[in-house]
Amino acid sequence: MSAKDPSGKVIHLSSRLGRREHRIGGKAEKKSKSNARVIAITSGKGGVGKTSIVANLGYAFTRLGQKVLILDADLGLGNLDVLLGLAPRYNLSHVIAGEKSIKDILVTGPGGMKILPASSGIQELTQLTREQKIQVLTQLDLLIDEVDVLFIDTAAGISSNVMDFNATAQEIVVVVSPEPTSITDAYALMKVLSMKYAEKGCKLLVNMTTRPDEGREVFRQLHLVTDKFLDISIEYLGCILHDDRVTRGVKSQKIVSQLFPEASASRCFKDIARRISAMPPANLPKGGSNLFWKHLVQNNFV
Ligand SMILES: Nc1ncnc2c1ncn2[C@@H]1O[C@H](COP(=O)(O)OP(=O)(O)O)[C@@H](O)[C@H]1O
Ligand SMILES: [Mg+2]
Repeated sequence: MSAKDPSGKVIHLSSRLGRREHRIGGKAEKKSKSNARVIAITSGKGGVGKTSIVANLGYAFTRLGQKVLILDADLGLGNLDVLLGLAPRYNLSHVIAGEKSIKDILVTGPGGMKILPASSGIQELTQLTREQKIQVLTQLDLLIDEVDVLFIDTAAGISSNVMDFNATAQEIVVVVSPEPTSITDAYALMKVLSMKYAEKGCKLLVNMTTRPDEGREVFRQLHLVTDKFLDISIEYLGCILHDDRVTRGVKSQKIVSQLFPEASASRCFKDIARRISAMPPANLPKGGSNLFWKHLVQNNFV
């Protein structure tokens, strides 16, 4: 174990998962190589549309024939299940308490996508210990081979709870709205990603724009400052138009892509999903080894 880990958070995993083996039926077997894409959807400011984006992109990916898993990582205030009209009996708090396994809490949403629901109103879950984070990620790792893409819907902000989930993903999509406060908070998030977690790149998705070129303009403004002050490259992923039908969908607990497939926002979600699936996955650890421990792999901890 070296002290080089940029996050200093999940570092001692290597001692537990060092050999990257897990026991199946009492026999030690080498973990199969996963090809799943792991994409964290995150933001500096809250209320910019992360959960709506995860739900709609997840659905759009299922329409492209992909197997989708979504982790609601807004652990204290998770609401993905509510947005999708699901009423799960168990959630991640039961996994963390050791009462349920990750497979026990899986629920199925629109298009057949699988969801790992979070709890709401349990404040302690917003401050998971290192062991608890490892527990969640280790369990999650057991599902990764069964899906094509895993979306992680994070809480807002730059707390270690949020940032550690971002650090475990291969790709980080920062969601921003055209409001100046959202843009400055996105910059703050990128700064922490770059300086504390040594992330070299992320993608920018601009939500709730009034016109398509507004997204490019937000990207240009952010790019100007990240280029000048940070060692992180940002790639423009696109924009999602402001569309009242997104909120109408939320009120009836159905996603806009399902309820109004021809709505302008639904078309944006489809386009973004196609664009992501056409892009080569970023940051794949060499040889496609265990996804969740990419930082450990990259830093030669395992
Ligand atoms: N493209 C959009 N157009 C209009 N309203 C949107 C759009 N995206 C999200 N919203 C609305 O913004 C609010 C916050 O969205 P939510 O997905 O919960 O954000 P977050 O997860 O970032 O807190 C919700 O009321 C949602 O309906
Ligand atoms: Mg949310």
